[in-house]
Amino acid sequence: MILLLLFGWLLLTLGGCDSARILCIFPVPSVSHQATFQPIAKALSLRGHDVISVTPSPLKDPTLTNLTEIDTSYTKKILLGYGFEYFMSKEVAIQNKIPKIFEMYYELAEALFQNEEFKKIYTNPDEKFDLIIAQIYISPIMLGLSVKLNAPIIGVSSMGCWIGTHYAMGNPILPSMYSEMFLPYHGELSFYERIKSTLYFLWSRYYVNLVALPKCDQISKKYLGNDIPYIGDIEKNLSALFLNSNPVLYTPRPLVPTVVPLVFIHIEPPKPLPQDIKAEMDSAKNGVVYFSLGSNVKSMNIPQRVRNLLMDVFRELPYKVLWKFEKEELPGKPSNVVIKQWLPQQDVLAHPNVKVFVSQGGLQSTEEAVDRGVPMVIIPFISDQEFNGKKLQEFGVARHIDYLNTTKQELIDSIIDVAKNPKYRENMKKLKDLLNDEPMTGIERAVWWSEYVIRHKGTRHLRSPTVDIAWYKYFLLDVVSAFVGIIILILVVLIKLFKYVKNSLTKKEKIKTK
Ligand SMILES: *[C@@H]1O[C@H](CO)[C@@H](O)[C@H](O)[C@H]1NC(C)=O
Ligand SMILES: *[C@@H]1O[C@H](CO)[C@@H](O)[C@H](O)[C@H]1NC(C)=O
Ligand SMILES: *[C@@H]1O[C@H](CO)[C@@H](O)[C@H](O)[C@H]1NC(C)=O
Repeated sequence: MILLLLFGWLLLTLGGCDSARILCIFPVPSVSHQATFQPIAKALSLRGHDVISVTPSPLKDPTLTNLTEIDTSYTKKILLGYGFEYFMSKEVAIQNKIPKIFEMYYELAEALFQNEEFKKIYTNPDEKFDLIIAQIYISPIMLGLSVKLNAPIIGVSSMGCWIGTHYAMGNPILPSMYSEMFLPYHGELSFYERIKSTLYFLWSRYYVNLVALPKCDQISKKYLGNDIPYIGDIEKNLSALFLNSNPVLYTPRPLVPTVVPLVFIHIEPPKPLPQDIKAEMDSAKNGVVYFSLGSNVKSMNIPQRVRNLLMDVFRELPYKVLWKFEKEELPGKPSNVVIKQWLPQQDVLAHPNVKVFVSQGGLQSTEEAVDRGVPMVIIPFISDQEFNGKKLQEFGVARHIDYLNTTKQELIDSIIDVAKNPKYRENMKKLKDLLNDEPMTGIERAVWWSEYVIRHKGTRHLRSPTVDIAWYKYFLLDVVSAFVGIIILILVVLIKLFKYVKNSLTKKEKIKTK
């Protein structure tokens, strides 16, 4: 109790600011995305700020008296309408997936702007906010609110950010080194990868500037008024950008000071397991393999062939398999497999009998595995998962499986290897220590930066000059052109001179021979 009071006192005295009004907007109705935003809204409300959160996953916690939630869970059907099979397919190029994500965002944004409760806020000229925090997955579409409500705005992503947002923040873009999070490359890129990375970069500049931003701008103006500035310019005014990515887990790269990496933001202390799950896990004397593809990739949606393969693999394992499966029945279920429609993942991973976590390698699941010290077998399907899988394999805490060409034997061997070889568990512990060795926790950092932006009414003083110069200047294309021009000029002059000398010499010859 005394400790709690002391902690509360510390929180209140550590460079705080008076109670502020904060508006949070988290459009994407995906559980794993929202899991990283809820703690931020909650922590700010516990600091005594008056927080209004527009969210599809409201906490509905009556003890959070300073948190008002506008429930937008009805937008979940929009996400479902986009069919995850498409995003999961490795045959679909990323240049086709990104436009789909933008389209989904247009629909989500319109659904939010049309929400009656939310409309009352953003159309009321008397509403005053000190800060807005808005999710940016890849689209800046909600950022016009900062102009409409005249408040500084912080962007937040549940993972890293894509190239478009890096560009808007002024982070250096180098297709040879800092590959896009949607591309599975890291470390030293091969020649072929660099070609693909460069083409992707060029495509992304074209797509953002000529297709996506004009459309976002149109929707922003439709709801917020025609006097709202161009959305691409508003994006450059972000006061900070919270990324749920950590340079240890992602490739280290230069970032402007207002990009704030967070880690372990949604991890909570383990709670007791529900009785039925606890009984299943306690009785698994050989250990448990926990299998879940997270909240976005449903076991239902993965290709039939892969699902059958997994069942064949699980059947031969000497362990009990706990499978998060969304239906009540799984035809042909092996006897050592237990299916549950929902599992408290953080608490399951804390059970001492868990040997391996077979996962899609999403960032939130990965963080939970690291925090609980459970090694992984990663079968990536979408988004940043392949990148995460390769990276974690390098850390020696996981084995990465390509579901397109894996075999039953490879999967069995991988799971047993990860379960039996203690080095995976030891490396997990090292990785956890590395990630935790920080001056403040992720949530403290998020709160500190939010209040910093409130105290200084934005971060204009930290704005990178990069965002204000034209792209051809940024890439020195004008300087390179000038050099090339001079060289061409010199060459032309030399050639002309050479011809002139040659001509005059041959003329003299002719005169002599006559
Ligand atoms: C609500 O905010 C007030 C200050 O504005 C603070 O004193 C109080 O502790 C907060 N309550 C909760 C539950 O966060
Ligand atoms: C960006 O912020 C500056 C300073 O607050 C303001 O003058 C400018 O109009 C803003 N630009 C846009 C496009 O919102
Ligand atoms: C999968 O493909 C990669 C190359 O694309 C290859 O190196 C690897 O051995 C293949 N794995 C299996 C199990 O066939």
